[in-house]
Amino acid sequence: MLMKYRKKTIVLSVMVCLFVFTIMSFAGRRQPKHNFKILPQDISRDSLHNIMHSFNVALGVKCGFCHAKSTLDTTKLDFESDAKEEKEIARAMMTMTMEINKKYFSDPNFNPNAVPIVSCVTCHHGHEEPEKEIPSVE
Ligand code: HEC
Ligand code: HEC
Repeated sequence: MLMKYRKKTIVLSVMVCLFVFTIMSFAGRRQPKHNFKILPQDISRDSLHNIMHSFNVALGVKCGFCHAKSTLDTTKLDFESDAKEEKEIARAMMTMTMEINKKYFSDPNFNPNAVPIVSCVTCHHGHEEPEKEIPSVE
C-alpha cells in the first residue's frame, strides 16, 4: 500500500517537474513580437492597422507623427522604435482613454472592434491637440 502510494507520488512529481520545465523553456525562448506596452502581443494585423488608422484620423496626422524614421532607410518608418515622444504620449493617452471608459462607461477593454464611448476623436476631433475653445461661428 505504502509502496504504491510512493510510486504514484514519484510519477506525479516527475510529471509536475516536466510541466514546469516545459513552461519555463517556452517562456525563456519566446521573444515578444511587438514593442508593446499597452496592446496585446497576439493582436491581429487587421486590428492593429485599424487602431493605427483611427489615430491618424482622430488627430489629423500621418503615421510619421508618432513613428520615427528608420535609421537604416530614412524613406521608411521604424514602427518598433520609441524615438519620438509623441508615441509615448499616445501610450499615456491610450491608458487614459481606457480608464475613462472603464471608470465612467464600464467598457473594460480597449476593444478595436467595439466603438468605445470615449475615443481619441472625442477630444481631438481631427486635431493634433484638442481645441481649447469653440471656434467662432461668424
Ligand atoms: C498617435 C500616435 C500614433 C500614430 C499616428 C500611429 N501610431 Fe502606430 N503605434 C503607436 C503606439 C503608441 C504604438 C505602440 C502601442 C503599445 O505600446 O502598445 C504603435 C505601434 C505600431 C506598430 C507595432 C510596432 C511593433 O512594435 O511591432 C505598427 C506596425 C504601427 N504602430 C503602425 C502604424 C501605422 C502604419 C500608422 C499609420 C497608419 C501608425 N502606426 C500611426 C502610435 C501611433
Ligand atoms: C479626454 C480628452 C482626450 C482624449 C480622449 C485623448 N486625448 Fe490626446 N490630448 C488631449 C489633450 C488635452 C492634449 C494636449 C495636452 C497638452 O497640451 O499638454 C492631448 C495631446 C495628445 C498628443 C500630443 C500632441 C502633440 O502635439 O504633441 C498625442 C500624440 C495624443 N494626444 C494622442 C491621443 C490618442 C492616440 C488618443 C486616443 C487613444 C487620445 N490622444 C485621446 C486630450 C485627449
